[in-house]
Amino acid sequence: MLTIAVLKDTAPGEKRVALVPESVKRLTKLGVQVLLEEGAGEQAGFTRRQYEEAGATIVADYKQLLKEGKVFLKAQLICLTDEETLKMIDPLPKDSVIIGFMNPFKYIHNVEKLAAKGVTSLAMELVPRISRAQRMDALSAMSSAAGYKAVVLAAASLNKFFPLMMTAAGTISPAKVLIIGAGVAGLQAIATAKRLGAQVTVFDTRPVVKEQVESLGARFVSLATTEEAETEGGYATEQSEDFYRHEQVIIGQQLADTDVVISTAQIFGKRAPLLITEEMIRTMRSGSVIVDLAAEQGGNCELTIAGKTVERYGISIHGESDLPGSLSYHASEMYSRNVTALLSEMIKDGKLVIDIEDDVIKGTLLTHAGKVMNQHVRDLLDRDKEEV
Ligand code: NAI
Repeated sequence: MLTIAVLKDTAPGEKRVALVPESVKRLTKLGVQVLLEEGAGEQAGFTRRQYEEAGATIVADYKQLLKEGKVFLKAQLICLTDEETLKMIDPLPKDSVIIGFMNPFKYIHNVEKLAAKGVTSLAMELVPRISRAQRMDALSAMSSAAGYKAVVLAAASLNKFFPLMMTAAGTISPAKVLIIGAGVAGLQAIATAKRLGAQVTVFDTRPVVKEQVESLGARFVSLATTEEAETEGGYATEQSEDFYRHEQVIIGQQLADTDVVISTAQIFGKRAPLLITEEMIRTMRSGSVIVDLAAEQGGNCELTIAGKTVERYGISIHGESDLPGSLSYHASEMYSRNVTALLSEMIKDGKLVIDIEDDVIKGTLLTHAGKVMNQHVRDLLDRDKEEV
């Protein structure tokens, strides 16, 4: 019988869990056994009793979990973020399967180690954004959570109301919110800011999003892109330096009259474009707020510090990199459904079948059968070796 082991997430501040009780029930119906490391899920608000009722066996002994498990789940595989890698990977039996967020383009050498160890790894951030894989698209689920939380955070930091208010003390005009990038996070940010009553303006390099933005009641500002704006996979393409300078000018014209900026612009696998310079920030009204969701990819704003909130020239600049984690209950629920959908594709007659010809599995596989399977990671490793 296939045994899935849910490990406690250990990354600092991480409160999410990889499987919630509802998913445990679903997986056990597929004929698999679920083991849960004692304490996993507690920080997201799920109790031991709920897991047991759903059919999980709670295991306190980590060594026993490693011995009995075949598939290991975590939300964030901290092991891929630093020297701790081998601490988790080394004791794993050969041919184990690990599934979680892995930040593979940043920690390429750890990916190499995973391959050498013979571990099969599936990185949830690599699930292709195709219609068949929508239920498994954890990156979109987490971006959606981040887009919502970015606005809530901005509203809490701003020294103004968001909505138009008619009060006995007179009329209060609505806050002006500028959203850069109308992808998954951006669209959720637009919807949230609109629900709170703000006036929302949106920039994106992909003209196709105009209709979606306008249907949410926001104003869309078109940017005359010089190159093809979108890849076949629906991601934004990188634009020229001249284009970004032109965009900075257009954004700059809005900033003096903007209360909140939520920036989400990213180019898949690359550094995020720099769209707000220090000089531009100085033109903003004191008390305004920037939430830079692209902080981990280098930031859209020059003064962003990843993982921190800083105040410069009277402006609060938020670079928090774990906003979904702050919604640990729902973010776990969404992530757990994504992982369960992926596992359900691979479980056939109670066994795990890794079909490397399947588009979704092929796209998500990071290492398998002793090899690094992801082409982008392989290219990065080759480039790194050439440079040495
Ligand atoms: P996405 O790829 O769906 O959307 C990015 C959008 O930016 C696209 O619509 C794209 O066309 C647009 N864009 C690209 N270059 C642009 C430019 N120069 N000007 C205007 N728009 C431009 O990405 P998604 O999933 O919405 O994520 C957005 C960002 O949020 C990413 O950097 C992601 O890593 C980050 N994120 C942050 C979290 C946090 O806790 N801080 C959590 C989850 C995601």
